[in-house]
Amino acid sequence: MAADLGHGTATESDRNSRAFGVLKTPVVDIVGVRLDAPAEVSAALWQLLSRDERERAEKFRYAEHRQYYIVAHASLRRLLAERLRIAPGAVEFVETKFGKPRLAPVHRSADVEFNLSHSGILALYAFTSGRAVGIDVELLREIPDADDLAERFFSRRETALLRALPLDRRSLAFLACWTRKEAFIKAVGLGFSCPLDAFDVTIDPSAPALITRIEERIDRVANWAMQAFTPYPGYIAAVAYRQ
Ligand SMILES: CC(C)(COP(=O)(O)OP(=O)(O)OC[C@H]1O[C@@H](n2cnc3c(N)ncnc32)[C@H](O)[C@@H]1OP(=O)(O)O)[C@@H](O)C(=O)NCCC(=O)NCCS
Repeated sequence: MAADLGHGTATESDRNSRAFGVLKTPVVDIVGVRLDAPAEVSAALWQLLSRDERERAEKFRYAEHRQYYIVAHASLRRLLAERLRIAPGAVEFVETKFGKPRLAPVHRSADVEFNLSHSGILALYAFTSGRAVGIDVELLREIPDADDLAERFFSRRETALLRALPLDRRSLAFLACWTRKEAFIKAVGLGFSCPLDAFDVTIDPSAPALITRIEERIDRVANWAMQAFTPYPGYIAAVAYRQ
């Protein structure tokens, strides 16, 4: 599938919370936003939030986390508003019983599906027309307890593949596996209510991202596609969507 990778073009000016294109295919459009915006930018973005979003923002203990939340959610409103051709403040959301945010029925005719993920100073947004989508991004970092975490959360096959790798490649492979698995559980919308060992993904960061097994009670492999990518220097991400 043709993919337009724009991650090399992100610059310091992204700090003004301007959205930048990350990956665009005929099926999914992925946009990035830097969350470490200057205070005057996040103060202006505050105006776009709903009362519920402002209340949630106010609950963050650390100012930095509050600011990231404001930028992430005001940017979501802006990006959806562009697609719906309405004002950002007019975007209405609902949540599924598993907590997945979706557009309210009032926007149903636009047929826009979306998902959001954030890590470090980066937020990623995935948009599709009418297909379930899930995205996950992680800041690249050392994972000293990768083996133990894999034992707890990954399937037996994934854990064995990880343990077979040389130690210096395990953190990256762990994060590759983690982003792929989270993208899938977010796409199906179950979040952590979906047992992470109920399906397998490929874990090699340099090989195509694939879902290779899904327990029947959850879904079928043939229904899902997945792609891994570098959204921004120092980050790793994956997106999953219904075929
Ligand atoms: C979804 C989930 C896997 C995300 O975990 P994470 O790695 O910490 O966070 P990410 O940055 O990748 O994604 C967070 C975003 O995913 C979205 N999200 C939340 N629940 C979701 C779900 N069930 N499916 C898909 N996306 C979801 C939200 O937009 C959220 O953004 P916000 O926290 O700023 O509102 C995890 O939070 C989860 O399982 N949540 C569901 C909790 C639940 O079951 N609630 C129901 C009430 S009991």
